[in-house]
Order: sequence, then C-alpha cells, then structure tokens
Amino acid sequence: MFNFSISTLPVLFLGVLLGALVMFAVANELGKRSRLSLGGRLLMAGAIGFGVISIGIKSIILLTFTHDGGSNLELANRFANELVDRELANQPRKTAGFFRRRSDFDSRVWIALPEHAPTPKDNVASPKKIALGKSLFNDTDLSLDRTLSCASCHRLADGGDDNEPVSTGVGGKKGNRNAPTVLNAAFLDKLFWDGRASSLEEQATGPLLNPVEMALPDAAALVERVKKSRKYRNRFTEVFGGSDPVSVQNISKAIAAYERTLLVTDTPYDRFVRGDQDAMSASAQRGMILFDEIGCRNCHADPMFSAAGKERNRGNYRMFPVHKGSPYIQRYELLVDGKPKVWRVPSLRNVALTAPYFHNGSVGTLEEAVRVMASAQLGKIISNNPEDDYSITEISRDGERPGLEMQMIKNRALNDGEIRDLVAFLKTLSKGKESL
Ligand code: HEC
Ligand code: HEC
Repeated sequence: MFNFSISTLPVLFLGVLLGALVMFAVANELGKRSRLSLGGRLLMAGAIGFGVISIGIKSIILLTFTHDGGSNLELANRFANELVDRELANQPRKTAGFFRRRSDFDSRVWIALPEHAPTPKDNVASPKKIALGKSLFNDTDLSLDRTLSCASCHRLADGGDDNEPVSTGVGGKKGNRNAPTVLNAAFLDKLFWDGRASSLEEQATGPLLNPVEMALPDAAALVERVKKSRKYRNRFTEVFGGSDPVSVQNISKAIAAYERTLLVTDTPYDRFVRGDQDAMSASAQRGMILFDEIGCRNCHADPMFSAAGKERNRGNYRMFPVHKGSPYIQRYELLVDGKPKVWRVPSLRNVALTAPYFHNGSVGTLEEAVRVMASAQLGKIISNNPEDDYSITEISRDGERPGLEMQMIKNRALNDGEIRDLVAFLKTLSKGKESL
C-alpha cells in the first residue's frame, strides 16, 4: 500500500541538498588539482550532484513504499473506520444508540452487553406497564387448567429456563423442544429455536395458545380470563387507556415490556470487558481466545454470543450439524426428520445454568455440549493424543513442477484442557437473577 508521510519528506530533501553541496565541494577540489577550468569543474560537480539527487529521489520513493508497516496499518484502519462510519450511518435507529465508540464495530474487539434493551417505538415502557407484565408472566390463571404460568417453564432464579430436556405443558403434555432462557431474550432479533418470531410482542401469545403449553383454546378465551380476573381490574385502562384495553395485543405488549427488564448484563465476562481484570480466571481467558481462534465466535458473536443478536447480527441462522461425519449426531439424535436443519444460532448467555442442551435437550452437560459443537460444527477431533492435532492433507509428487508438495492441518484436535478452558469461559457468561 502506498504510504505518504509528510514528516519524512523535508528531512530527506535537506539530506539530498546537503549531499549535493558536499559533492560540489569535492568536485571543485578534484577539479582544482587536475587543473580543470571553472566550467569543467562545474560540469563535474553537476554530474556528481545530479547522481546524488537522483539516488536521493529513489530512496525517497523506496522509503515511502517500504517504510514502517505500522503506518500502513494505521492507514488501513482509517479506511476501515470510514467503512464503519458508513455502517453506523446505515444502522437502523433502534440499534444505532448502542455503538458509542467506533471500536465497538471492529469485529476483533470484544464488547459487553448494553445495560438497556432496545425498545420498539410502539411499546414504550412505564413502571405500571412493566408491573402489569410481571403479573401476567407469573399468573397460572392464564393456562387452561390454571396450573402453569410463563414462570413455570422460565424460572428466573434458575437461569430463566426449566432445566428439563423438553417442557411439560398442561395435563403433562410434552413438547418437543428444550425451553431457552427468557433472560436477555430482549437482545435477540429472532426468537424460538427456528427463529419464527421476530419480537417479544409477537412471541408472547404463542405459549398461551399453544396446545402443549398453556393451551387456552383461542384469543377470545385469553381475553375473557383476563377480563374476569380481579387482579387486573383497571390496570389495563391505566396503562393503555381506550374503551376496550384488554386485548391480545395489549397483553403481549405488557408481557414484552416486562421481559425487556429481564436482563443479565453484569456477568464476569461483561465486567472483564469493561475493565475489571480480576473478573475472569486465566483458564477462562484462555478459553475466550480459543473460542475466537477455533471459530465458535463466528456463529456465537458477542455480546449476545448468538448470530441473532440485535448487535453484531451475523445473519441469525446456521446449519446444524455442519460436519455430517460427527459421531455425536447419532448419539444425541441431532437430526430432524433425518436431516441437518437450519437453526437460529442460540445465545450462550446464561448457558452454564440452562442444561440440558440443544433443541431436543439431549445433551446433559456443558462439557459435552462443547464437544458436540467442536465436532459437529467445526470438524474437530476430540482427543488428548498430540498426534491427532496434526494431519497431513496433501502429498503430491506428480504436479507439473518437479519435487514434492505437502500440506498439513494444525490444531485439528481439541483436548481435555482446551475443553475445560472453553467451559470456564462459557461459565463467565452466566449469572442468575435471584432478585426477580
Ligand atoms: C410449558 C412450558 C412453557 C411455558 C408455560 C412457557 N414457555 Fe416460553 N418457551 C418454552 C419452550 C419449550 C420454548 C422454545 C419453543 C420453540 O423454540 O419451539 C420457549 C420459548 C420462549 C421464548 C423464546 C426464547 C428464545 O431464546 O428464543 C420466550 C421469550 C418465551 N418462551 C417466553 C414465554 C412467555 C412470555 C410465556 C408465558 C406467556 C412462556 N414463555 C410460557 C416453554 C414454555
Ligand atoms: C457454524 C455455526 C456454529 C459454530 C461454529 C458453533 N456453533 Fe454452537 N450452535 C450453533 C447452532 C446452530 C446451535 C443450535 C443447535 C441445535 O440445538 O439445534 C448451537 C448450539 C450451541 C450450544 C447449545 C446451546 C443451548 O442453549 O442448548 C452450545 C453450548 C454451543 N453451541 C457452543 C459452541 C461452542 C463452544 C462452539 C465452538 C467450539 C460453537 N458452539 C461453535 C452454531 C454454531
């Protein structure tokens, strides 16, 4: 890359001028000794001086091109920052406020979770709305047999899920999906394992009317339940106004407003990123670097550790499993209808508290979930044998050129120590919400 630095130019120019003067003096002296005429001496000095000047110009050009890779980097960064500025200008309003610093955009820089979740314009929160949402979230009367509330499957003090492989709805009916945490769901662009809901408002009525969850027969039944309950008398009018404020839409809005307060933004990871050096152990720090180096972070992008985060959205979805030869696929029945499927990349926030893992809840421990991911998504071999860390992928003698060509993959295996480090890191993304 061409790098033009103003400060080097005058120094070099002066050097060249000084050199030319010295050469003229030398030529003058030489000319005197060989009894050249003044014209001859000037000619000689001119020839030598010109040579020096041309060497000087060449060195300016050479130095300009090769001098100081650091400045070239600066220049590259300047270009990158311009791109960032353009990106910032194109950000949708709801997320633009998060990025106060340019470096937030640099994809190598780790970022902490903002302290407030983005709020849609048509559902601005108020303390009364949040309190109403909290009542609805905890109300078992909103399920068919009045036994279950949202909080039954999303226990906030236990990580925001139910710690069962799949959830049990009214009448003991089992669903076919593991319950994800509601904590920090406000920072996700896509909700549910398959990403079928795009906002908390859209998601909230799903479980109320889902036959294997809260199982109310229809929206009218839900509105009826809320209208008849003493708990809500006047509260909808106070929050939403209007002549008929109890509606499915307003129920969803209140629940969503409450969910936007269910945030865990001060995990050890967040504190570490914000500057508390002691917040993460050495093992967790090694795991953090490994998480980036081996490619976990490409899909589980910080600060939500999901590709579907509202910040650093990486396109929401990925295929799982990617490496069809992984031995874990059969063991944990990870295919759906015999095939890999495209899933929303789940968040790893609070992941240490939300076992069991994966859409079918088939994996019981975080260690094993890390092994499954490394194998099924990254094609790693799980092994402590150093021999497995390298594999020669290509030897060719019969190319067009004579001689031997070789290629090797390094860091092909993940050993127990590395898995321990990754798990230590994932644990720093977790924290309960006991106070709620
Ligand atoms: C019977 C257990 C159960 C009940 C009750 C329940 N949920 Fe869930 N919840 C689940 C399961 C299972 C999923 C995942 C479903 C899927 O992805 O198909 C889920 C998903 C979610 C998600 C999406 C999280 C994410 O990361 O995608 C949110 C938010 C949520 N529930 C909120 C609620 C609210 C609000 C209520 C009450 C109105 C509620 N849930 C009631 C089991 C339950
Ligand atoms: C190619 C994208 C991709 C890569 C790379 C990737 N993941 Fe995942 N991860 C996913 C998807 C998609 C799922 C959801 C799979 C499912 O359950 O169906 C997932 C699920 C998980 C889960 C389970 C979450 C839960 O709540 O059940 C953990 C833990 C996890 N990943 C950790 C990691 C780690 C650690 C790495 C690096 C070794 C990694 N992932 C690499 C895409 C990826």
